[in-house]
Amino acid sequence: MIFQNNHAPASFNDLIFPDSNTRQRLRDFAYNKRHNSIIFYGPYGTAKSTTARILIEERTRGLEYGGIDFHRACDVTFDTLRTIQNQRRVEQLCGVLLPVSMIDEVDKVPDDVQYAFRWDLDMHSDQGCFVFTTNELHRVDPGLIDRCDVIELPAANTEHWFARAQEILKQEGVVMSDLKLRALLQTCDGSIRDLMRALEDAVLKDRRHAA
Ligand SMILES: Nc1ncnc2c1ncn2[C@@H]1O[C@H](COP(=O)(O)OP(=O)(O)OP(=O)(O)O)[C@@H](O)[C@H]1O
Ligand SMILES: [Mg+2]
Repeated sequence: MIFQNNHAPASFNDLIFPDSNTRQRLRDFAYNKRHNSIIFYGPYGTAKSTTARILIEERTRGLEYGGIDFHRACDVTFDTLRTIQNQRRVEQLCGVLLPVSMIDEVDKVPDDVQYAFRWDLDMHSDQGCFVFTTNELHRVDPGLIDRCDVIELPAANTEHWFARAQEILKQEGVVMSDLKLRALLQTCDGSIRDLMRALEDAVLKDRRHAA
């Protein structure tokens, strides 16, 4: 199995957050205590899409309906809003408290459609909300941003990632000193993809030496 998929987070507790305030806000959202729309922004590979998916999954855990109403920016048009409204009705019939639609890379959605989302947030916030992701917050409609909880997921921090990296190495049966693991994490550029590649390299090297 592909290394990074094998260690992809499965639940909220596997996610790493930049600070305790962000963790708490998102925990409240994941467990249906907050129902506001969210926009995640930050550099490549900082778990924006992954976090969005896990939040939505947690909100519907245990219900008959467990899918994710996911939309890629390149597929989003005015018609998408109609599709989302139908989807919300289905989810509500299945017991979802407030349906969430995920719009990935919202900066790439045409400006007039972004504006329509802003209108939906004003008119239909009792019917559903959104989780948006973007690498380029400055390309998102400022009125849309103002209607969302704006959450930065910055470059992965070596210290924050230490325990999770240790856990991943343990699952792979690799023993590494804290000093060596810190040095390894410091070689990464802040993208979790890069970090997972570094861990995979370490695991494969360990297996080669053991052989
Ligand atoms: N806590 C975690 N533990 C292990 N892997 C993780 C964790 N968080 C994210 N990842 C992995 O990091 C990779 C990148 O995550 P993701 O695609 O969510 O980033 P992104 O911020 O949306 O990137 P982009 O800006 O390029 O769209 C994925 O393979 C994901 O499984
Ligand atoms: Mg993404």
